[in-house]
Amino acid sequence: MINNLKSLCIGELTARIPIIQGGMGVGISMSGLAAAVANEGGVGVIATAGIGMNEPDFYRNFAESNMRALREEIRKARAATDGILGVNIMVALTNFAEMVRTAIEEGIDIIFSGAGLPLNLPAYRPRESRTKLVPIVSSGRAAAMLCKRWLEKFDCVPDALVVEGPRAGGHLGFKVEQLENPDYALETLVTDVLEAVRPYQESGSSIPVIAAGGVYTGADIHKFFQLGAAGVQMGTRFVATDECDASREFKETYVNARAEDIMIIKSPVGLPGRVIRNDFIDAVGRGEKEPFACPYHCIVTCDYQTSPYCIALALMNAKKGNFRHGFPFAGANAYRVDRIIPVKELIDTLVREYHQAECSS
Ligand SMILES: Cc1cc2nc3c(=O)[nH]c(=O)nc-3n(C[C@H](O)[C@H](O)[C@H](O)COP(=O)(O)O)c2cc1C
Repeated sequence: MINNLKSLCIGELTARIPIIQGGMGVGISMSGLAAAVANEGGVGVIATAGIGMNEPDFYRNFAESNMRALREEIRKARAATDGILGVNIMVALTNFAEMVRTAIEEGIDIIFSGAGLPLNLPAYRPRESRTKLVPIVSSGRAAAMLCKRWLEKFDCVPDALVVEGPRAGGHLGFKVEQLENPDYALETLVTDVLEAVRPYQESGSSIPVIAAGGVYTGADIHKFFQLGAAGVQMGTRFVATDECDASREFKETYVNARAEDIMIIKSPVGLPGRVIRNDFIDAVGRGEKEPFACPYHCIVTCDYQTSPYCIALALMNAKKGNFRHGFPFAGANAYRVDRIIPVKELIDTLVREYHQAECSS
């Protein structure tokens, strides 16, 4: 196998393959997918949103069941790989602090944190911890603000930054009208973030910048490396793998999707979200409601009192393949997926394509 891609270094961690598998809730990237990616030399990431959904006391005991499930998933992944493992913890989760503390206690290698600015994330990391903290941002402005704040308040800078552009899957950190605007294209954002972190790099810190959102082929990876990125984060392509923790039915929605099925919805959490259109989405569009009780208010910004459905429940149903009561999140490229393959085959393909692009550039 060709594996001489430039490694991704985050502090003392070195990923031989500079590809981070993006955290995908609810239940899409758990220990199975994360360990498979880490075993191939990339960074495998467990998503924490709704992670306790299979615990018997999930509805009665939201905080405790999520922490327990997170511990179990991290331990399961760790037992299956010596590679690099991360967790994705959205700032907007009401149990953000508990999840961060639990992941650090379990000795996770990296915490990725977006869906809001993780301004206080370093406050939860004890001095002796080796866990790396990697915010997910969608602008140079946000990157600069985080670096400044962390330096002033915690005397540290992010260990790396993921820049997520408007072609990503799931909730998006943009206004709907920005999604197709070339000023917000990932290429532009990566350049802006590199510029924003330069003063901090010059003062001796290394802050690798990782490009995410619409990265699909090895040629795409090559393009972002040329722009100065140190790695990429990919979500959509990892859904269509054997090891992905979603049901077969969920993966097949990607294989069957046509370009016109990929659409943007207004999520109850107040952000645009990219999904694969189905009957459930159409019913909500016609004003139909799916009544629900909200026992735990899992996302701070969720307008659960007026929302026509529960987003957590809809995503949990989708993960299990129940599309009468749910829909899949997906990236803009999901319609390009034509089959489900092992993680190893995906990584080998990306590496081969990367080298082809390098040779012809
Ligand atoms: C099904 C799905 C679920 C996702 N869930 C999360 C999540 O829980 N937290 C998060 O920060 N990003 C989430 N994302 C974004 C991915 O981690 C990733 O950054 C993004 O999809 C990259 O773009 P790509 O799908 O075009 O590769 C999700 C994406 C998908 C496709």
